[in-house]
Amino acid sequence: MKFFIDTANLAQIREANELGILDGVTTNPSLMAKEGIKGEAAIMNHYKTICELVDGDISAEVISTEYTAIIEEGKKLAAIHPNIVVKVPMIKDGIKAIKWFSDNGIKTNCTLVFSAGQAILAAKAGATYLSPFIGRVDDTNWDGIDLIAQIANIYSLQGFKTQILAASIRNALHIVKCAEAGADVCTCPLDSILGLLKHPLTDIGLAKFLEDAKKTA
Ligand code: G3P
Repeated sequence: MKFFIDTANLAQIREANELGILDGVTTNPSLMAKEGIKGEAAIMNHYKTICELVDGDISAEVISTEYTAIIEEGKKLAAIHPNIVVKVPMIKDGIKAIKWFSDNGIKTNCTLVFSAGQAILAAKAGATYLSPFIGRVDDTNWDGIDLIAQIANIYSLQGFKTQILAASIRNALHIVKCAEAGADVCTCPLDSILGLLKHPLTDIGLAKFLEDAKKTA
């Protein structure tokens, strides 16, 4: 399973990258706004900076919702760097645009996915990645991990090549469960990635080893 970081915060992207386990970055308009990035030029420049920091696929989301506008915006984003993946919402014009991008060699990430039906449609259109939002599914009393497992089963049975990019990750256990359920990629906040490190027995064991090491010094 690939690890992406789900943020537009450059310090967090650097920290995750320095761990040596980072395969890419996802962003969205909410994450860009959180960092105070404003205006088209600043947004494009921020994507460029992220591409220079991380050698992997970088999702940049369109804000257009009409077919022709999505294509034009996506072409501009894709021109920033070869690693840019154009992130397109799961709407009718979005699916049409994903098909166009796919036919024209531009990678896509179909976002705001909440059902297996949507996953089938995105795969048929040729999406490179599919982003089911598992935390938001959990928020509605459905099981986000079950959705990942259902999509993984369908894609495997049908031979779809679209990669399942589990998004809206809220904790380290989500990452473990996504790996079990067959996600190809997990895009996570830095805290959830660092949460994978934690186990009290590791801390207790290390303290004891370091204490005992003093006896051998
Ligand atoms: O990748 C999608 C993600 O940014 C949404 O996360 O926590 O707002 O549901 P969240």
